[in-house]
Amino acid sequence: MRLVLLGAPGSGKGTQATRLKEHLQVPHISTGDLLRAEVAAGTPLGLQAKEVMARGDLVSDDILLGMLKDRLSREDTRAGFILDGYPRNLEQAAALDALLAGLGQKFDAAVQLVVDNEQIIARLAGRAKAEGRSDDSPESVRHRLNVYDEKTAPVVDFYRQHGQLTVVDGVGTLDEVFTRIVEAIQRGHEVG
Ligand code: AP5
Repeated sequence: MRLVLLGAPGSGKGTQATRLKEHLQVPHISTGDLLRAEVAAGTPLGLQAKEVMARGDLVSDDILLGMLKDRLSREDTRAGFILDGYPRNLEQAAALDALLAGLGQKFDAAVQLVVDNEQIIARLAGRAKAEGRSDDSPESVRHRLNVYDEKTAPVVDFYRQHGQLTVVDGVGTLDEVFTRIVEAIQRGHEVG
């Protein structure tokens, strides 16, 4: 199973991917986590990405594609993966298709978690207090939501137009949302 998880910041992609990886027995690839690991390690890439991430802007497509190529070349992704945080613009969507085609692969489903902005702002305000993530300040969250609308929403439309999109209500308990995703993937498989 090769799954792409889409959704605005705070829609629950990372939370649900952690559960789905156990369920599907495939690795969870979060481009945000990969970047945060570079920042924490103080690598040149991390130094380049740090300020961009804190502002809530997108890190350059070249950096992301290099990281993703590297990760998808690893043996543990042969049986599948859950991709969380990529693609984030139409250029990245095209790059993902080309990368997978080069590996003789396609993804099985793009699942969009839908959560209203009010709930997202409340969730991320809670995380800012609990974890202090640098991009969870109210200004960065507002900016990340704008970046999502401007750059990532067209990716959702693109997958919708190509019949690759599954939309899931992301509001509810973690178990409820998880069950909806699993059922949606299952339905997709029965249809496809
Ligand atoms: P990234 O780490 O991908 O951040 P994001 O998309 O903004 O996503 P979040 O981690 O904030 O939210 P999530 O949807 O995973 O929700 P979560 O499960 O954590 O990217 C960070 C930055 O890296 C980007 O801004 C950019 O700079 C850079 N970057 C990453 N990928 C890139 C790319 N491809 N191109 C360019 N730049 C890139 O949940 C959020 C909170 O809500 C948690 O506290 C959680 O406990 C809570 N929660 C989850 N589910 C529920 C629920 N059902 N009910 C109540 N609370 C819930």
